[in-house]
Amino acid sequence: MGFFSLIQGLIICCLRFELQIQAGNFVEAGIELETASALMIGSAVAMEMAGSYSTDTYKAEVRSSMPDRFSGIMSQDHSFLIAIWKKLHPWFTSMPEVLRHQHEQFISSYKILSGSHKAVCARFGGNEEGSLLSPGCKASEMLARFEVSRLRILNVQSDRASRGENLLLLDKKQFIELSFRSYSNLLMRVLSSGERTWNVSRCFSVYPERT
Ligand code: HEM
Repeated sequence: MGFFSLIQGLIICCLRFELQIQAGNFVEAGIELETASALMIGSAVAMEMAGSYSTDTYKAEVRSSMPDRFSGIMSQDHSFLIAIWKKLHPWFTSMPEVLRHQHEQFISSYKILSGSHKAVCARFGGNEEGSLLSPGCKASEMLARFEVSRLRILNVQSDRASRGENLLLLDKKQFIELSFRSYSNLLMRVLSSGERTWNVSRCFSVYPERT
């Protein structure tokens, strides 16, 4: 449930980003990208929290709440989000200079999310088990391929794909604090427009990388 509201928040921000950038409103477009970055970090936190269950509890409570053989890739909200990212690709390849910082944050946030996804997957057997889409391919390898292709949409070449910032080191209190901030940020952005409610750059300065 939490993952879906985060994805829906991302959809809202990305659609608003498109409207604002098309209108030449770069400040507002930047706020949308920053908010989207915060939501992706919130999703990474949600992933890490799902990963903090024991394998048995994950299988009994998290996995069993999903339909049999359901993969995140099959969710309609997620497909819609990826379709929007594809539509935004021309903007990602020619981002106005004033939005370069927010674009970099957006990329870093995606890498953090993808890093958490891979870490959780590995924890639950993804280095041994096949992916649902292609059982012949290890789940963790499949995720690495997805990462490269998503980063390509964001205009990151594969040689820059998995470097450093895709890893988070948080304790439980920080997880909860960050998730809460991300949710409140989403709510505020849905209810208001044009105001910067929380600056995502705090994440990068406050939380050290996992080694
Ligand atoms: C914690 C809950 C999880 C959520 C919310 C989730 C969500 C997602 C999403 C949204 C995608 C699409 C990614 C994209 O299009 O770039 C995806 C794909 C994928 N996820 Fe997860 N995921 C979760 C846990 C896991 C775990 C534990 C594994 C490994 C054991 C895993 C393995 C994969 C793989 C291999 C794919 C690629 C598609 C496929 O082959 O099924 N995920 N997931």
